[in-house]
Amino acid sequence: MSERGRVGILISGRGSNMVSLVEAMRSGAIDADPVVVLSNVPAAEGLRRAEELGVATEVVDHKKVKPRRAHDAAVVETLQRYRVDLVCLAGYMRLLTPVMVDAFRHRMLNIHPSLLPAFPGLDAQRQALEYGVKVAGCTVHFVDEECDHGPIILQASVPVHDDDTESSLSRRILEQEHRIYPQAVSRFFAGVRLEGRRTHAAP
Ligand code: GRF
Repeated sequence: MSERGRVGILISGRGSNMVSLVEAMRSGAIDADPVVVLSNVPAAEGLRRAEELGVATEVVDHKKVKPRRAHDAAVVETLQRYRVDLVCLAGYMRLLTPVMVDAFRHRMLNIHPSLLPAFPGLDAQRQALEYGVKVAGCTVHFVDEECDHGPIILQASVPVHDDDTESSLSRRILEQEHRIYPQAVSRFFAGVRLEGRRTHAAP
């Protein structure tokens, strides 16, 4: 790993988690630099926000680069060009092929808006509401070949209120996402030891 960590952030949409990561790196809360924000969607709002923050942006349009493996290979090549040590998926709405997973094994994190292993996949907050859980939350985990599945670094819980809607619950969870994703990245650079599925922070 290079002296100061180099982080690439992958987004498909609004990019609020990306902003919280960039701000945490800029403030010194994370000992690393955001070197590129990459999106598969040219019109992603988060790309504009990254530009405003002065972070390099790249687009690998999944509608133009096909099939999926070729798209992942182009993303990997771009991230390697920026010599990233860590890849953070932040609302990156793509299923990954082994091309990506193998290139960044144990060096790629994702944030998911549920307390995994409950409610993986799309619309996690809606799944939680419909299931009727009383506690919801979010999870930062290493990425492996299964969707929303790898070893967990941090989780945070929030209460589900009787009058919650999908958007009110999503807002409450998002606040926690913005808090724990930077913490998890900071922990990654401090050293995380893996023991099967369990992760341990450096002492
Ligand atoms: C977040 O809820 C994240 O957990 C999920 O996608 C959403 C992305 O939001 N993976 P944003 O683009 O970071 O604002």
